Amino acid sequence: MVNNQAGVADNAAEIVAGRSAADGSEARRGPAQGETHRQHGKEEEVVIEVRDLTNRFARQVVHHKLNLDVYRGEVLGVIGGSGAGKSVLLRSIVGLETPASGRVRVLGQDFSSLAPERRSALERRFGVLFQSGALFSSLTVVENIAVPLIENVGLDRPEAEHLAEVKLALAGLPASAGAKYPAALSGGMVKRAALARALALDPDILFLDEPTAGLDPISAAEFDQLILTLRDALGFTVFLVTHDLDTLYAICDRVAVLSDKRVLAADKLDVVQAINDPWVQAYFHGPRGRAARQASQASRQQTTETH
Ligand SMILES: Nc1ncnc2c1ncn2[C@@H]1O[C@H](COP(=O)(O)OP(=O)(O)OP(=O)(O)O)[C@@H](O)[C@H]1O
Ligand SMILES: [Mg+2]
Repeated sequence: MVNNQAGVADNAAEIVAGRSAADGSEARRGPAQGETHRQHGKEEEVVIEVRDLTNRFARQVVHHKLNLDVYRGEVLGVIGGSGAGKSVLLRSIVGLETPASGRVRVLGQDFSSLAPERRSALERRFGVLFQSGALFSSLTVVENIAVPLIENVGLDRPEAEHLAEVKLALAGLPASAGAKYPAALSGGMVKRAALARALALDPDILFLDEPTAGLDPISAAEFDQLILTLRDALGFTVFLVTHDLDTLYAICDRVAVLSDKRVLAADKLDVVQAINDPWVQAYFHGPRGRAARQASQASRQQTTETH
């Protein structure tokens, strides 16, 4: 398993190192644009700023005056019970939900005040992997990845498909998967294909909604490692909704807990898991939480011994 993970990671790192500047991604990653915030003695640049966000569907209030900051380059894990509003929060940040009130600023810009063309330009700086995968079933994998390159960048089809093949490899899929339709892929391959599409436009922020749900533990661990490798190599920020405790221990820099319509805490894992809240305690200190913590400690010890 360790070898496999290293293989995927090396592969991704090699592709990143060899990436041509033809897609303009280096130039596009501009200078700092957000607010800064002092955290653990460090100046952090805020790339997502959510203030007093309220979302409701008919009479159901999902978020009430929710606040959250996400820092440039971090992997932020977002957790909370089923129905707590994690996916709605993600959709609010990427501009797919219009909040009842409050403000969301992404990369220093407020969606609600942007003209349509500036809004599309901002949207191009995100990659989103939705909870369902959301690939077009009538298109092959390569065509799925090529769509944003044709529609948003204006590449012609052969160019877009060529770049799509690079993204496919970056997401750890064999070239042979490119010609397949989503229905012919395994669950793990669907996640990787959706990741490749999310990476198509070289995002500044990658949004992942339950990327390892339904994967076997080995595939899930490989996927986690891939995200970490890509983040380290490409420098994007990751907003990661997950139920997966192993993922939290393996790759998250901070964890935000959604509870009671707001963010109960957003901090380092050791701080968050000590919070005196019934859901937090049950989540981290139940049998699955204990097993994940022990596995993470064992893997850290193994890493220390081998270095
Ligand atoms: N478009 C919608 N119309 C009406 N209600 C919605 C809509 N989208 C979400 N909801 C409701 O908002 C609440 C939060 O949903 P959300 O999908 O954000 O939960 P979640 O935390 O992502 O849960 P899970 O872990 O199961 O994915 C749920 O009660 C859901 O039914
Ligand atoms: Mg959800």
